[in-house]
Amino acid sequence: MPKADSPVSQPVAMAEVGLQVKSLQKTSDALSTALAAAKERFSKRNPNSKEIFEGACDHLPGGNTRTLLYTAPFPVCMKKGEAYQVFDEDGHVYTDFVGELTAALYGHSHPLIQKSLINTMQSIGLNLGATIQQENVHAKLICERFNLSKIRFCNSGTEANLHALAGARRFTGRRKVVVFYGAYHGAVLGFWDGVQENGVDKAEWVIGKYNDIEGAKRLIEQDDIAAVLVEGMQGAGGCISGTNEFLLQLQTSAKKVGAIFILDEVMTSRLGPGGLQAIVGLNPDITTLGKYLGGGLAFGAFGGRTDIMAVYDPRSANSLAHSGTFNNNTLAMYAGHVGLSEIWTSSVAVEFNKRGDAFRAKLQAAIAGTKMSVTGQGALNAVHFSEGGKTEIACSDDISEDWGLKDLFFLEMMEDSFWITRRGSIALMLPTPDSEMDRFIECVGRFLQRHKDLVAL
Ligand SMILES: Cc1ncc(COP(=O)(O)O)c(C=O)c1O
Repeated sequence: MPKADSPVSQPVAMAEVGLQVKSLQKTSDALSTALAAAKERFSKRNPNSKEIFEGACDHLPGGNTRTLLYTAPFPVCMKKGEAYQVFDEDGHVYTDFVGELTAALYGHSHPLIQKSLINTMQSIGLNLGATIQQENVHAKLICERFNLSKIRFCNSGTEANLHALAGARRFTGRRKVVVFYGAYHGAVLGFWDGVQENGVDKAEWVIGKYNDIEGAKRLIEQDDIAAVLVEGMQGAGGCISGTNEFLLQLQTSAKKVGAIFILDEVMTSRLGPGGLQAIVGLNPDITTLGKYLGGGLAFGAFGGRTDIMAVYDPRSANSLAHSGTFNNNTLAMYAGHVGLSEIWTSSVAVEFNKRGDAFRAKLQAAIAGTKMSVTGQGALNAVHFSEGGKTEIACSDDISEDWGLKDLFFLEMMEDSFWITRRGSIALMLPTPDSEMDRFIECVGRFLQRHKDLVAL
């Protein structure tokens, strides 16, 4: 746009700006109208969910106990899941593209997981208040698959990261941790645009720009950095991939100054048989895990170098405590092991992620030339709506999402029987049929056609 201080160009520029403002206004009016209509249809289609939500507000703030699951005007209440589908309280059946935010990799109630859970309950019992042999069986398999020397279990990915950080701080005797804008490492470890209000260790974060190699080097190569904590692909941040060069540089810089390189694979470990670290060729000091590795139950794990993990060895008088009533709960130890050994074999992991890559390529081809784009790796995807329909996104600053369009998409995909997250993440599940992926692409095409004025570049 011409500079405002240029006397010659100014009248032309003002006219241009006027036209732009008018057309933007028209677009936003049209979007508001479409959104209002979609919300009205949504409310009419889901009277039981509405009633349940209103009842839940009596006991849960905003009827909610997991913030992400609140969506306006009220969330759909699900009744059950089966394989690749979920069924709501108003009788609708959806193809589940939420995939429990990547944890439902095996699909809902996979027969082998069911069998393992029932056997465990019937012949072992829920929790024995003691160590069990199975915890070592599961530990051994995870260590082999993800190239870890030692591992400890906990109850969530959040906990895994908290304990990994505590271990790194103890091991190095330092406090500061380098993380990246746009990262999500757990409920109290979010860094969308800085440390969240409920974030822990507020003064001890050093926050850099994702994929900025030189910037990261400067931040890490200091003598007081305890650890670097990074996702190989920022999952909740919109499936923004770290380049191999960036991730390898973080590892090199961390090792150079004796900081612990922690790779958060809570989401990305399912991108290949040995996680994203094996794909990129990383050798993290500590890796954090979670999600499907507990067979679909609450689960987290952190592991890696023997010398670092030794800070948690209770045989040492000075060891760090890491307790948790359910750390070695029988259900997750057995079901998690069945999942990893019998369902998520190496060849299945490779083939499934290839299917995901093919799906994303087809989807991107179908939406090219609109404001919609898709990013991701393997079977993990995120759709975006932005000016320019950007696909090259290196960091959270590179994209400004159009939340109005995202909401419209979310609401209308439900009408086409697809359950996706409002933020646009799509985590495919093993039983998701190719025919449903193809049907999704057709429905997206129809959405873009219906709203062609709103999504035009
Ligand atoms: C990369 C990453 N780290 C950590 C977490 C936190 O895991 P949890 O929800 O099990 O606490 C998540 C959750 O989505 C995640 O995506």
